[in-house]
Amino acid sequence: PIIYAITPTYSRPVQKAELTRLANTFRQVARLHWILVEDSAGVTELVSRFAAGLNRGGGPPCTHLHVLTPRRYKRPGQPRATEQRNAGLAWIRQRYQHAKGPPTPPTPGVLFFADDDNTYSLELFQEMRTTRKVSVWPVGLVGGRRYERPVVEKGKVVGWYTGWRAGRPFAIDMAGFAVSLQVILSNPKAVFRRHGSQPGMQESDFLRQITTMEELEPKASNCTKVLVWHTRTEKVNLANEPKYHTDSVRIEV
Ligand code: UGA
Ligand code: MN
Repeated sequence: PIIYAITPTYSRPVQKAELTRLANTFRQVARLHWILVEDSAGVTELVSRFAAGLNRGGGPPCTHLHVLTPRRYKRPGQPRATEQRNAGLAWIRQRYQHAKGPPTPPTPGVLFFADDDNTYSLELFQEMRTTRKVSVWPVGLVGGRRYERPVVEKGKVVGWYTGWRAGRPFAIDMAGFAVSLQVILSNPKAVFRRHGSQPGMQESDFLRQITTMEELEPKASNCTKVLVWHTRTEKVNLANEPKYHTDSVRIEV
């Protein structure tokens, strides 16, 4: 099966560094298609050049999209990247939407949501590739603990080990699950929503639309291994940037 990785990304001093690191991971994964969705009114030069560079050689095949988050949603406490992940979902659904005719055989494929700042082991991709419907695994450095994980008994997910908002129906970070293409295509209305806009509820709200806890497939040795980390990059200190351009050349960072 092909793996689709949907990555929302936005302009900031560390953006190119984050994307470079992510590309270096993805280029080592076979049959991975990267859907890079910018949070911007139009595609930016920086990301366009970056995506073209990947597609010219060695990089993972990359589809470059954009959609701007409405300004009223750019506030603390609001979920992030809702519109961008939905744009990725829409692109995939459109790609597999066939004209009326005989039903096509099920498409083998897996989709996951790869934020641009997390750290992904290569093993993670081997694990998610065998997803039948929806698979789950632990995520490191999240929820105020060293890790969160689905609790597994007799091969089934029965609950969640978490230190944050334990009442979440699916107490899992965006980085902790993958969904088969079949599930995405057979639930054409499943999208990320801002309603209620409780922090940390996007994952649960999305998963509730497509699956149940009983159905989840535990990966990473029954959810006992951390293969992805919710790392966050420190804000860069630009206190010494000159007010006006003073270097003799212009350099993209
Ligand atoms: C946590 C979760 O890991 C995210 O999946 C979730 O979207 C987020 O909370 C949330 O609050 O909704 P966190 O590390 O706090 O993540 O969020 P970021 O990494 O800052 O943002 C998640 C993704 O959205 C990143 O890929 C980032 O580049 C992108 N983003 C962020 C935008 O596209 N626009 C923004 O304004 C902010
Ligand atoms: Mn993050």
